[in-house]
Amino acid sequence: MPVITEIEDLKRIYKRRVPKMFYDYAESGSWTEQTFRENSSDFDQIRLRQRIAVDMTNRTTACTMIGQEYAMPVALAPVGLTGMQSADGEIKAARAAARFGVPFTLSTMSICSIEDVAAWTDHPFWFQVYTLKDDDFMRRLIERARAANCSALVITVDLQIMGQRHKDIKNGLSAPPKLTPSSIANMMTKIPWGLEMLGTKRRFFGNIVGHAKGVTDPGSLSAWTAEAFDHSLDWKRIGKLCEMWGGKVILKGILDVEDAKKAADLGVDAIIVSNHGGRQLDGALSSIRMLRPIVDAVGDRVEVHLDSGIRSGQDVLKALAMGAKGTMIGRAFVYGLGAMGEAGVTKALEVIHKELDLSMALCGKRDVNDLDRSVLLIPEDFEGRWQAT
Ligand code: GLV
Repeated sequence: MPVITEIEDLKRIYKRRVPKMFYDYAESGSWTEQTFRENSSDFDQIRLRQRIAVDMTNRTTACTMIGQEYAMPVALAPVGLTGMQSADGEIKAARAAARFGVPFTLSTMSICSIEDVAAWTDHPFWFQVYTLKDDDFMRRLIERARAANCSALVITVDLQIMGQRHKDIKNGLSAPPKLTPSSIANMMTKIPWGLEMLGTKRRFFGNIVGHAKGVTDPGSLSAWTAEAFDHSLDWKRIGKLCEMWGGKVILKGILDVEDAKKAADLGVDAIIVSNHGGRQLDGALSSIRMLRPIVDAVGDRVEVHLDSGIRSGQDVLKALAMGAKGTMIGRAFVYGLGAMGEAGVTKALEVIHKELDLSMALCGKRDVNDLDRSVLLIPEDFEGRWQAT
């Protein structure tokens, strides 16, 4: 086994092990993928301020997010089809997160069901929902999350219609994969993945199949979004969902100051500055560029978190220092999962934790909660002079 020191190492192994269709699903942005690329490259524009001769003993990354205590301010993001990256993938990722002491967020479009993940972990996890047309199904889904003891509802607000990802269409993405000459040829080169997958019953969208009515192709994410998602979503409906749940709510997918203000008015517990990993509106600005204006506008009223683009502990540090109270990683843990299963998710978390901890020390800070903009060197024009009329 090669020595793993960074997330990129996990990605290389992941690419070799997992069928192209699922690698491409994770590793895509929409259309030209400009936003997908800039989510990461914009982090590189921010530099860190080296400080010396500061006591670096007794460091801590412990934190609270939405009033819950965690080992570091990094949550596992909801990622659809995680159980196709590795057999029983959601259970493996949830267990690794629980052991590490960070939140796991289960996607509605998971392969393992809410009940299955709850049965195989002893820690409450967060549950993500899209806003669906079928109120009945929505109510039952929220009821199921409550029965599974989920400790927060993460409502995705940036995907009522799906952005186009070229590769998924070309690959005929589905769960389980449809058997075509090219998918079979590719899977023949992924034998360990295939044997594990044959050894599990969990190969369908576990929260949907058998629970939702009138889905023409239950294996296709794009068919399901086109048919079931509430394209008429508005703030009133988001408010209703918060009421339906009645517990902690995180709104995921806010990239604009005006929207952030509306979310804060609703009284949610946190918002996540996110462009869905560059998978929705290509051409939108990166999350890290939009973070400072949003924190400045609403940070005193609601916890502001960030996802999209994080591939290292230094990226986490930059987001926190810019004012985020929490972060989410999606692809960074999926690489670990696809590469090495549960141990790979643990490895990804260890890599990110170590990078965060050491970089924090080299910036002269001992407590992750003390990070502020003084540790950053931000280019003068970082947010840019864009004109919205
Ligand atoms: C679903 O949320 C996706 O981005 O594929």
